Amino acid sequence: MITPDPNRVLIFDTTLRDGEQSPGCSMTQPEKLRIARALAELGVDIIEAGFPAASRGDWEAVNAIARETHGPRIAGLARCHRDDINKAWAALKDAAKPRLHVFLATSAIHRQYKLNMAKDEIIRTAVEGVKIARDLCDDVEFSPEDASRTEPEFLAEVVSAVIDAGATTINVPDTVGYTVPEEFYEVFRYLKQHVSNIDKAILSVHCHDDLGMAVANSLAAVRAGARQIECTINGIGERAGNCSLEEVVMAIKTRENQFKVHTGIHTTKLYPTSRLVSSITGMAIPRNKAIVGENAFAHESGIHQHGMLRNSSTYEIMRPQDVGLTRTSLVLGKHSGRHAFRERVKELGFEVSDAEFNQMFEKFKSLADKKKELFDGDIEALVMQAETDAPGPWQLLEVNVNTTPGEAQATIKLQHAEGRTEQHSVTAAGPVDAVIKAIETATQLKAALCKFEVRSVSIGEDAQGEALITVDHNGRSYRGVGISTDIIEAAARAFLEVVNRIETTRHSAERRAERSVMANP
Ligand code: KIV
Ligand code: ZN
Repeated sequence: MITPDPNRVLIFDTTLRDGEQSPGCSMTQPEKLRIARALAELGVDIIEAGFPAASRGDWEAVNAIARETHGPRIAGLARCHRDDINKAWAALKDAAKPRLHVFLATSAIHRQYKLNMAKDEIIRTAVEGVKIARDLCDDVEFSPEDASRTEPEFLAEVVSAVIDAGATTINVPDTVGYTVPEEFYEVFRYLKQHVSNIDKAILSVHCHDDLGMAVANSLAAVRAGARQIECTINGIGERAGNCSLEEVVMAIKTRENQFKVHTGIHTTKLYPTSRLVSSITGMAIPRNKAIVGENAFAHESGIHQHGMLRNSSTYEIMRPQDVGLTRTSLVLGKHSGRHAFRERVKELGFEVSDAEFNQMFEKFKSLADKKKELFDGDIEALVMQAETDAPGPWQLLEVNVNTTPGEAQATIKLQHAEGRTEQHSVTAAGPVDAVIKAIETATQLKAALCKFEVRSVSIGEDAQGEALITVDHNGRSYRGVGISTDIIEAAARAFLEVVNRIETTRHSAERRAERSVMANP
């Protein structure tokens, strides 16, 4: 896929593949579909939907995204193995614009310790992988994993061979986040100068952030001629993460005079997309995170505020509304109607269907009964809640906690989808502990609590609290988020979401096993 505009940089989003690989970030299929839809609205050119051969769940998610997401090209990752490539193609082939992305490590360290393969074997395997992929799909990307630590001459040899074999995009990864901008610039220049067929493919860059330079390294590659950037929302990804989409896109836009290129991203969707990914993955956005952090456009010092009042360009290089930050001090309340609520949801950058809106409006009304004033943070939280509500068998009917010094008694009433109700009281050292134990007793499901965080989603004494719980169950990590004006109820909701996720995962695994027994009796 060669772009007709030489100054257009393609944005390849890998939130659903490399991003999902980060610990605690695994997502369910409906969550992945929701993110894919948001990425399409954001205007990314390519969505890497997953690694189909990794598991049945990954395959199904890639297949659903390929069938249901319109606009961007949909890519799936595969090793240079016939079986991996066939599985990836089976998942992707229903997409309007599919891409097969094959990879093989090329550095001396990986050749010796991971693959135990000599240089000629690497070239043969890479070429064969690309040819298999190209027989299936016109659009094939090849990544020499750990390219930044590969000998430049050998890297050039591999790149030239895979372009001859049919690769249409060559992605150069800094897999371990080791390179620095000047060095990476030279790698791209070297490939441009020493690979005679390099113009037959788009050059792409894929950086990890181990030394905090993923964005700077990606921009250096663009200066040297890369025309595709691989990145993730909020920079989530393996270890320290990947190049952050919102940062690299806003750097290109804000410093157009430096880079002289552009992307097709609708930047006003950056903030809502970032909030959506944070809320689904449970990865909080640091307050001081560039572009989308809570403080990114806040001015505290008197001198700065004075300058801002005179002219915002004194201390602001971007306008908050350009990244979709349209927060106001506008307050909604119980007398606000459907129209005012719908307008605010839209102004905050969220696209919701009529059914989703109706559900949200009901929650808005019941929240407005409890809380006098509803701020933008409350409205965002309602939208996120509707989008992340994990379907599952359990529903919270009541939660009551009595605390005395050093002790708390929690009573929980839950309803199961099959109709039965469970009510249990448990005493423990603290209220959150008691609520979790009562839910465990009611649902007969035990999980080890790894993390419990609470934050306020808006302002005022009656602000809502958001509880975030991460647990470990049978070696897998599960997250739950709960929001309420009462933080103990928020914790109960977050833990119940975790239980529902575990039950849903178990149920679909059982159904898959039954289907496979029926298919292979
Ligand atoms: O970091 C990396 O090398 C990768 C490749 C599979 C592209 O994620
Ligand atoms: Zn990576």
